[in-house]
Amino acid sequence: MQKNNNIMIKKISAVDRDDFIRLYEEAGWWRKSYEKDVSFIDGLVMGSTCFIGAFEGNTMVGMGRAVSDGVSDAYIQDVVILKAYRGKGIGAKILSKILRYLRGRGIDWIGLIAEPGQEPFYNRYGFVRMKKHVPMKLEV
Ligand SMILES: CC(C)(COP(=O)(O)OP(=O)(O)OC[C@H]1O[C@@H](n2cnc3c(N)ncnc32)[C@H](O)[C@@H]1OP(=O)(O)O)[C@@H](O)C(=O)NCCC(=O)NCCS
Repeated sequence: MQKNNNIMIKKISAVDRDDFIRLYEEAGWWRKSYEKDVSFIDGLVMGSTCFIGAFEGNTMVGMGRAVSDGVSDAYIQDVVILKAYRGKGIGAKILSKILRYLRGRGIDWIGLIAEPGQEPFYNRYGFVRMKKHVPMKLEV
C-alpha cells in the first residue's frame, strides 16, 4: 500500500463546511434538501463524541466519527475518504484513532452500518456482521 505521510489525522470540533460537503458528495450521501440550511453540519460535528479529520494542509480529505453515550455504547458513522486519497491507509488510520478514543473511555459495544462492498474493510479491524440482529431505520 502506498502510504501518504503528508496527511495529518486529528480529532476536531469544527469543520470547513465545503470540505464536509465534498466528502459527503463523493460518498453519495449528499442530498439536495440539505442545501436549505447547511448549518446542521456544525451541530453534527460538535455533537459527535469523537470526530476525526484527515488533513492535507488545511484541506480535509477524509473523516470519520462516533456517536456515543460516552461510557458504554458507540456507533461509528460517516467514514469517508476523497476518491483521490483512497487506498493509502488513511481510512485505517481514522478508524484506529476513533477506536482508540472509544476504548480509552471503556466503551466496549461499538457498532456500525456498513455500505455494501465496504464490509471487508471493517472486517480487517474486528467488525463482524451481526447474525441475530437486523439494522432498522425510521422511514415516515
Ligand atoms: C471505505 C473507505 C473509508 C476506506 O478508506 P481507504 O483510505 O481507502 O482505506 P485504507 O487505504 O486505509 O485501507 C485499509 C485496508 O483495507 C483495505 N480495504 C479498503 N477498502 C476495502 C474494501 N471495500 N474491501 C476490501 N478491502 C478494503 C485496503 O486494501 C487496505 O488493506 P491493506 O492494509 O492490506 O493494504 C473508502 O473506500 C471510502 O471512503 N469509501 C466510500 C465511503 C464509504 O462507503 N464509507 C464506508 C461507510 S460504511
